[in-house]
Amino acid sequence: MNYLITGGAGFLGRHLANKLVAQGHNVRVIDDLSAGEKEALDPRILFTRGDVRDQPKLWTLLHDIHVVYHLAAKVSLPQSILYPREYNDVNVGGTVTLMEAMRSLGTRRVVLASSGTIYGDQKRQPVDEQVLPDLRTPYAVSKLASEHYIFTLGRHYGIEAVALRIFNAYGPGQALPPAYPPVVPQFLDRILRGGSVVVFGTGKQTRDYVYVEDVVDALITAGEREGIDGQVINIGSGVETSVEELIALMEEVIGRRAHVLYNQEQSGGVRRLVADIEKAEKLLGYRPQWSLEEGLRETLRRDPRFQLEHIPVRER
Ligand SMILES: NC(=O)c1ccc[n+]([C@@H]2O[C@H](COP(=O)([O-])OP(=O)(O)OC[C@H]3O[C@@H](n4cnc5c(N)ncnc54)[C@H](O)[C@@H]3O)[C@@H](O)[C@H]2O)c1
Repeated sequence: MNYLITGGAGFLGRHLANKLVAQGHNVRVIDDLSAGEKEALDPRILFTRGDVRDQPKLWTLLHDIHVVYHLAAKVSLPQSILYPREYNDVNVGGTVTLMEAMRSLGTRRVVLASSGTIYGDQKRQPVDEQVLPDLRTPYAVSKLASEHYIFTLGRHYGIEAVALRIFNAYGPGQALPPAYPPVVPQFLDRILRGGSVVVFGTGKQTRDYVYVEDVVDALITAGEREGIDGQVINIGSGVETSVEELIALMEEVIGRRAHVLYNQEQSGGVRRLVADIEKAEKLLGYRPQWSLEEGLRETLRRDPRFQLEHIPVRER
């Protein structure tokens, strides 16, 4: 099969691209490298630096492609509040441009990386795909809008469309930007270096941390499986973990106590969020293979940034 991955030099995109190529598929990637790194891509992947809103470039790349994975996006929730126009331009504009380009070339399917963050604050947990989204950031708006665009345009253009609502993915190679770094690599880095971990709010807020390999397996199945056109599907671990529990697990895995500071002034975001993954199991045969502890251990093992020689490893 021939695949195009937009945003394929990013964290999830690189894992997906490398796995598809290892399975013997042809993979092309378009990424503007605003956040991605192309060095970790398998050399068999055809990489093109470009903007997902550049339609002529998409036309050339889409030739003979069967499935497009649309991952190119700006991904920071707080930043989206500061730069909503940019988030709308890239995330929504990119999706619409891609769909238009696919129409001209007869691509069969698009799989969108949507997000569990569109659920916002829900009383009933775990959240299933039926609940009404509670949109709290321009990023969330852009993801829900993208879902609507792939389904609406997909119906008009004869393109099968599937949206995976991915929860908090983590794993080796996740970017650690200076502004608003994701919690897992940020905390691992701080604990390993003996720095302080700053927790926003009470630390009781929960999330669903899902290991990158499980997300990649779900994406691959969503690209192959018949009979799932028009579906939105949650992809999480199905396990609810508080920030305090996450830190405790990291301490255990690293074998070092964390120095934790609480910033109660800063909101910790929604109080609870955990995915109901029954639909994923039913439609994709999805069963997460990685517990949080195993995923953290694997992240430490595989990510060169976390292999500091002076880190003591506790005998187990
Ligand atoms: N990582 C998660 O926990 C998570 C959760 C839910 C949804 N998602 C979605 O999955 C996708 C991948 O996320 P990620 O964590 O790998 O983030 P990432 O930032 O590592 O990857 C996004 C990639 O898109 C590229 N990009 C940005 N703007 C572009 C543009 N205009 N043209 C071309 N490329 C562009 C970036 O350079 C980057 O490589 C995103 O759409 C994100 O919204 C991620």
